[in-house]
Amino acid sequence: MKKRVGILTSGGDCPGLNATLRGVAKALYQRMGEEVELIGISNGYSGLIGGEWRVMRPDEFSGILTVGGTILGTKRTPFKLMRVVGEDKVDKVAAMKKNYKEMKLDCLLCLGGNGTHKTANLLSEEGLNVIGLPKTIDNDIFGTDVTFGFHTAVDIATEVIDRVHTTAGSHSRCMVVELMGNKAGWLTLYAGIAGGADIILIPELPYTIDNVCAAVEKRAGEGKTFSILAVAEGVYDAEEARMKKKERAAKRAEAGEVTATNRIARQIEAMTGFETRVCVPGHMQRGGSPSPYDRVLATQFGAYAAKLVEHEHYGVTVAMKNNHVTENPLAEVAGKSRLVPDGHGMLEVARRMGVSMG
Ligand code: F6P
Repeated sequence: MKKRVGILTSGGDCPGLNATLRGVAKALYQRMGEEVELIGISNGYSGLIGGEWRVMRPDEFSGILTVGGTILGTKRTPFKLMRVVGEDKVDKVAAMKKNYKEMKLDCLLCLGGNGTHKTANLLSEEGLNVIGLPKTIDNDIFGTDVTFGFHTAVDIATEVIDRVHTTAGSHSRCMVVELMGNKAGWLTLYAGIAGGADIILIPELPYTIDNVCAAVEKRAGEGKTFSILAVAEGVYDAEEARMKKKERAAKRAEAGEVTATNRIARQIEAMTGFETRVCVPGHMQRGGSPSPYDRVLATQFGAYAAKLVEHEHYGVTVAMKNNHVTENPLAEVAGKSRLVPDGHGMLEVARRMGVSMG
């Protein structure tokens, strides 16, 4: 009997999803030929709940190595709502199990980030055969040193920082570049170092505006006419860091702020006299073709997931540890995230280079 393998991409997209789908499919077809059939589920768990699926043709996985986004479509279906029956009266977990059965799946591969892994674990606990694959530009999945999508985003963010350097220099300005990453500072830290940012602010290290302005003024004192700040979208100042989540959200809402970036720019201008501009590359960091690094990683992860399918080794997610592709139990990964730890080598490098961390 043919092995039927369901596959879906869930959560925010990133470069490398298609390359991973291709990696899984090619490696499976290579090993199992006619003995395997891939079932593509549209728009993540939403498609699994709604029964949107199709049997994929092998040629659909060709020519997609370099293509951004996901050929399956994706959607955010929050984990916290999975057990909640909404107005549509759909029991989502029951619907996913029913559709898994109806598709006659032997297993289900879920490509996604932290939220996706929580639901993957839930489905695994419910008795389905699930394998996860870690994607996200945020690089914040527990148990893996790297996720696909991250390095492409670092490349894009670095180019942004490179480009604002010249305009900052011409105008003698401060440029504040807001980078994605959710609650994790990896993307900002790596792009900040790669782009030679003068000040790097990450959520893991609450900043004070006095320290930020002192760094700008120190540079001015050394004859530098501009400063570049790489600021993670999730940063808080020291005062906000002491507040409860709700209190902080209320304060931001009152000030009409979503992120701290515009406030930082305003404060730098007021406190140092430097004309300051904000640059937000936003979803550009998630778009377009994956970098060669991510193509390789996606192919490694895809091929490894295919091996797990072949060996019927389920309830795990693929990971990279010390340059070695391996797997972690879903139960150990779900509900955790990986932030930049205090004392991480990259923080040490930044500080040694004289970069201010706020
Ligand atoms: O998790 C990936 C990510 O790009 C985060 O860095 C960012 O905070 C978020 O998704 C943006 O989400 P959305 O695509 O829903 O705007």
